[in-house]
Amino acid sequence: MSVTTPVFADVLKSAQQQIQQDLTTALDAFALPEPLKGAVHHAVMLGGKRVRPALCYATAALGDNVNVAAVRRAAVAVELIHCYSLVHDDLPCMDDDSLRRGQPTCHVAFEESTALLAGDILQSMAYEILSSRLFDQSVAVDQSIMFRQMQILATSSSKMVCGQVLDLQAEGQRITQDALENIHRNKTGALIQAAIMMSAVTIFKGTDPAILKLRQFGQAIGLAFQVQDDILDITADTEVLGKTAGKDLQVEKSTYPALMGLQQAQDYAKQLHDEAFEALSYFGQDAQQLTDISAFLLNRTH
Ligand code: IPE
Ligand code: IPE
Ligand code: MG
Ligand code: MG
Ligand code: MG
Repeated sequence: MSVTTPVFADVLKSAQQQIQQDLTTALDAFALPEPLKGAVHHAVMLGGKRVRPALCYATAALGDNVNVAAVRRAAVAVELIHCYSLVHDDLPCMDDDSLRRGQPTCHVAFEESTALLAGDILQSMAYEILSSRLFDQSVAVDQSIMFRQMQILATSSSKMVCGQVLDLQAEGQRITQDALENIHRNKTGALIQAAIMMSAVTIFKGTDPAILKLRQFGQAIGLAFQVQDDILDITADTEVLGKTAGKDLQVEKSTYPALMGLQQAQDYAKQLHDEAFEALSYFGQDAQQLTDISAFLLNRTH
């Protein structure tokens, strides 16, 4: 399996096109009153790398006869949960950010109460989509798969909230590496792993060794994602990042560079990616898409 350094466009472009179309279809299925509708649109449709949907689709590429509708619903659902997490993460009572995906944050573009409620409804919408017949009216998803997908999404979403609480508590504190790892695995890693596993359960039975390998991959790439996010807060420009650079330093967030220094954090991100590639080697060529996404993530600039 070759590990190249693909450009952003190559790896994520088709995933972005697919998810943009499916998110439009999904949002259109809901009749929301204004200004909620505008706030939801703002939170979901304007930019974003769409890494989680891309991981859903790339995991599906590991199987034959995949239930495509179940994977597309999973991709939409996980992205909606992610978008909700960003809207709430940016609120004044949380990270208090005014820039997201190169746009004013949801609570800046709309009222704070509207942004809060947009985040709330995005959660319900995610589960409604997952249990809908969207993208294939004729074939209902196997109920047991649907149940597993909901369970995976709900568990990871709860972990994200717990991680966010710990993240806020750790501001201005000197915490151990274990404690920081626990925060990052919960607040970010869990949902990234969920994107992979919600797709994996449409292909593999729970007892299949592939499930364990994908879990290992998801854990490594999920933690690495937040380590990189911490690094980019220091090394990237606001314009490229689409969010305020240097914000973690400003509010004394507990981050990997703050804990171990920039170089060591970068080395750690590389080590986690090596673990991710190692887990993928089990699948050989079939995992090329997942390998390409991982390589992109390691070298990402935003
Ligand atoms: C940012 O996630 C928040 C974290 C969990 C680190 P992304 O970097 O995936 O944000 P978008 O979706 O591309 O804007
Ligand atoms: C975000 O972590 C984790 C979420 C659950 C959204 P950050 O607070 O570091 O994310 P950014 O840097 O604001 O995107
Ligand atoms: Mg935060
Ligand atoms: Mg934040
Ligand atoms: Mg961050």
